[in-house]
Amino acid sequence: MAVEVEIDVDVLKAEIRKTYASVSEEPEKDFVFPTGRAWALDLDYPADLLSRVPDTAAASFAGVANPFSLGTLELGERVLDVGCGAGTDSLVAAQMIAPDGRVTGIDMTPQMLANARRAAAEMGLDNVEFIESEAEQLPFPDESFDVVISNGVIDLIPDKDAEFSELRRVLRPGGRIQLADVTIQNPVSEEGRRDIDLWTG
Ligand SMILES: C[S@@+](CC[C@H](N)C(=O)[O-])C[C@H]1O[C@@H](n2cnc3c(N)ncnc32)[C@H](O)[C@@H]1O
Repeated sequence: MAVEVEIDVDVLKAEIRKTYASVSEEPEKDFVFPTGRAWALDLDYPADLLSRVPDTAAASFAGVANPFSLGTLELGERVLDVGCGAGTDSLVAAQMIAPDGRVTGIDMTPQMLANARRAAAEMGLDNVEFIESEAEQLPFPDESFDVVISNGVIDLIPDKDAEFSELRRVLRPGGRIQLADVTIQNPVSEEGRRDIDLWTG
């Protein structure tokens, strides 16, 4: 029998921001999920492209898998990185689509975005931008992007139907989504559902 547990979305978002502010400010800490450059290498990120991403971004990498394992991005594509965090995926993508493509990373945690912007400046990239936004209400016109990438973010969003319709809105017809995320195969106990750390991590 499914157990309904009320989650206060504002509390959840505040907890998520707190968790990921800590990942950006104290990347050397132990979290309940793996982080950092070594983890990205374990996930088979392209080593040459990753090696150009400075630690400012890579130390706070908190992805759950590798969205580029679904395919390399094409030269010239317009890419949206939803929940870009400190920017590792955006900065890898920016190298794949250069010089004519453009990457836009959005995230709701300002400390993560500060790292992402600093890392892009360190790399001297001018085809990537980072914008503070919630993923459920994207500040872009319809059909703005050829491809959406996202890594470890949709699982943190309570209203997934709303999220996917927003992604469909900003993608051009025939565009694609390369998603790395967590799925649950077994029912979660009521106690587990009430544990906010399991919702934020
Ligand atoms: C697990 S981290 C992954 C970060 C990045 N994709 C990476 O691979 O390193 C999740 C990120 O999603 C962001 N996030 C979570 N919910 C969000 C939402 N509703 N809107 C925008 N960003 C969100 C968090 O701030 C955090 O930076």
